[in-house]
Amino acid sequence: MRIVMIGSGYVGLVSGACFADFGHQVCCVDKDASKIEALRDGRIPIFEPGLDELVASNVAAGRLEFSLDLAQALNGADAVFIAVGTPSRRGDGHADLSYVYAAASEMAPHVKSGALVVTKSTVPVGTGDEVRRIISAACPELSFSVASNPEFLREGAAIEDFKRPDRVVIGVDDEHAAGVLREIYRPLGNETRLLVMARRAAELTKYAANAFLATKISFINEIADLCEQVGADVRDVAIGIGLDSRIGPRFLQPGPGYGGSCFPKDTLALLKTGQDYQAPLRIVEAVVAANDGRKRAMGRKVVAALGGQGHGRTVALLGLTFKANTDDMRDSPALGIVQALQDAGAAVRAYDPEGMEQAAKLLDNVTYCDDPYQAMEGADAAVIVTEWDAFRALDLERAGRLLSQPLLVDLRNLYDRPEVERHGFRYVAVGC
Ligand SMILES: NC(=O)c1ccc[n+]([C@@H]2O[C@H](COP(=O)([O-])OP(=O)(O)OC[C@H]3O[C@@H](n4cnc5c(N)ncnc54)[C@H](O)[C@@H]3O)[C@@H](O)[C@H]2O)c1
Repeated sequence: MRIVMIGSGYVGLVSGACFADFGHQVCCVDKDASKIEALRDGRIPIFEPGLDELVASNVAAGRLEFSLDLAQALNGADAVFIAVGTPSRRGDGHADLSYVYAAASEMAPHVKSGALVVTKSTVPVGTGDEVRRIISAACPELSFSVASNPEFLREGAAIEDFKRPDRVVIGVDDEHAAGVLREIYRPLGNETRLLVMARRAAELTKYAANAFLATKISFINEIADLCEQVGADVRDVAIGIGLDSRIGPRFLQPGPGYGGSCFPKDTLALLKTGQDYQAPLRIVEAVVAANDGRKRAMGRKVVAALGGQGHGRTVALLGLTFKANTDDMRDSPALGIVQALQDAGAAVRAYDPEGMEQAAKLLDNVTYCDDPYQAMEGADAAVIVTEWDAFRALDLERAGRLLSQPLLVDLRNLYDRPEVERHGFRYVAVGC
């Protein structure tokens, strides 16, 4: 199969590289010239474990290439995947579909007859209909199919998720489209469930999945708050409920709230869809509100641990990205936490293994450090914001000597209280 990915970001690049690894001929297109230049030079513009080797081997095998020229890339393509961003529209929270629609307009004159156009971007119900309308309006004679194939990969484990997915969701309204997508995913073998459904159901499945996972996170965060008030350990509660197979153990780790490029914008966009169709989603509304409040609440938790006073205090943040193993800072809880700390008058020093370049674009007045120990030098508290492995085995002796007072606020519950306290620290965790 000849495949074109429009958009070579986290999803487009990972999907494109994996499709090439399946044996397809793939061209990843992007409008960002610096991205394409980097990729052509063998540099990967994002941090994603294993992606550099996967890209290099498929480029070397002649199956993967990168281009700024959509028209040329589309020459002879059997399937075109739209993998551009769908951020929150400024002001109202709807998904901003301008990039998706622009991609549809741009491809229209160059798509070959019989080709399949697939939205891999996360798009609200009905977007596939609009993509079809835009292409048909530009090329009334063209015969083509439109499918939805939402992506469920997680940053940090994206290649594994793409190659060993729990399921592949395919939304089609004709058998030809289903056949092409079955052929594209055939290398996954029989172990992978390929769910073929109507396009609208597929579009909604992605939002429903993200909203459900966000709900689990907000739920356990609220249970954690209750645990703190009643003197229970949320980790016991999470295991106690998670072993129930109807509930499952994942997404039950309390923390500073969900962030990243998907859950915040997708929960908001789903709410807007619910409003548009007079089907209010009250549970999701509550999840969004709970999560919004949580980030600043975590900042206040740190200030409270400092005795209620931020002025004249310095806080060392360990981790800035919304989760480990990514450099993605989009909607990271760290943004709200830093703001709350600075509003309280505290100075912020920070270290993140991969996220500092992105963070510097979003955060003002933060001192970036070369490692966690440099961040802790002279600080009044160390605060673990992201669950990077590098923070799981800190040298607590050394940390205790560097901090002006031995205080560890662990917003990811990476440590056991007795171990930290044995080193003379005061230990503040979440829900325990
Ligand atoms: N990041 C994730 O973990 C993840 C997971 C599942 C689904 N998604 C969804 O996938 C979509 C893409 O997300 P992402 O994180 O990869 O975004 P991203 O911002 O990393 O990448 C999007 C890329 O598209 C390019 N682009 C925009 N318009 C273009 C056009 N007309 N032609 C060519 N290139 C164009 C941009 O330059 C950018 O490089 C979103 O809808 C997102 O919700 C993301």
